[in-house]
Amino acid sequence: MSKKIRVAVAGVGNCASALVQGVIKSKEDGDLEGLSFAELGGYRPSDIEFVAAFDVNKSKVGLDLGEAIFSPPNNTLQIVSPRKLGVVVSRAPVLDGLGKYLSRMVEVSDQPEVDVAQTLRDSGAEVLINYVPVGSERAARFYAEQALKAGVAFINAMPTFIVSDPAWDRKFREKGLPAIGDDVMSQLGSTVLHKTLARLMVDRGVTLLRTYQVNIGGDTDFANMLEESRLKTKRESKTSAVQSLVPYPVPTRIGPSDYIEFLENRKYAYIVLEGKYFGGAPIRIELKLEVWDAYNSAGVMIDAVRAAKIGLERRVGGAITSASAWTMKHPPIQLPYSEAKEQFMEFIEGKRER
Ligand SMILES: NC(=O)c1ccc[n+]([C@@H]2O[C@H](COP(=O)([O-])OP(=O)(O)OC[C@H]3O[C@@H](n4cnc5c(N)ncnc54)[C@H](O)[C@@H]3O)[C@@H](O)[C@H]2O)c1
Repeated sequence: MSKKIRVAVAGVGNCASALVQGVIKSKEDGDLEGLSFAELGGYRPSDIEFVAAFDVNKSKVGLDLGEAIFSPPNNTLQIVSPRKLGVVVSRAPVLDGLGKYLSRMVEVSDQPEVDVAQTLRDSGAEVLINYVPVGSERAARFYAEQALKAGVAFINAMPTFIVSDPAWDRKFREKGLPAIGDDVMSQLGSTVLHKTLARLMVDRGVTLLRTYQVNIGGDTDFANMLEESRLKTKRESKTSAVQSLVPYPVPTRIGPSDYIEFLENRKYAYIVLEGKYFGGAPIRIELKLEVWDAYNSAGVMIDAVRAAKIGLERRVGGAITSASAWTMKHPPIQLPYSEAKEQFMEFIEGKRER
């Protein structure tokens, strides 16, 4: 197997943009800043090659991926100049990809739909990343099916529960294909901060009484999430990540809360935890986090991609539970992040199967 990792992306939005730009930068200036691991199992970010991309938006389909990542409504930070990568964005079926708000912002391409599995095969892709919008339940499952059909590893970056669903895990096991998911957990985002603080309170003997997290942003991800009916899995994914680390029920409310266009791809998270400690004295933690959301997921995705390639080399079929716990909010097995990192390293070093 080559020392390159051939990657396809479904959804050329802000997350794909940050990932592609970060990889270009690592090739151009050898930039490895801001990663947990510069090298993982012999792979560096610069070993990633993009070989296929799928979208539905007229502003992106038919363009080279190295240019499409800058097409509106994408609005994350630009860290490299547009250039051709030799990969044209293919027209995918829309299915339920565009909800009430995105269908007002996105003009669907009039190009004919491609056969996604065939395009994956023709491109020689080894890993498919699913980056479709939240609530695209059919579209997400469609891409999981296409990965199975084409024989490529699957990474589910969004909160449709696939890799954490035992029935889907079985399908990937049967095909001998690795899967990592669900819903990428940002490098230093609201979920890892919230779950770490909740765990810290529990470990220090503080009783957590109630907690909430409010998120706002100005990109299509946040516009789409104004539609509460598409949000169910996102709330569940974010909430379960925090609740899994507290050994008793706690009133919790977590989720995306508003869309403010001029924030662009900046995300603000407000996290509040209230509890009581010795003597019943009250404690309240209130925190505000500001990040560029897409870049917060891209470094983690580079770990997931490398783990998927290692899984392919070792012929691991089904969910890679350690890599999923390290990189995802809703993995098959939820772990505190330090344990997740330990298990992930054991997997990379070949000391555990998955
Ligand atoms: N830190 C993060 O940004 C982060 C963290 C966790 C999860 N996620 C999830 O990752 C996903 C991608 O995030 P994003 O910020 O890039 O969103 P985005 O809205 O910028 O991009 C989504 C892209 O999918 C395209 N699309 C819609 N339907 C499609 C279909 N059927 N086939 C192919 N493409 C289709 C859209 O045109 C758009 O280009 C979202 O579901 C988001 O919630 C992001």
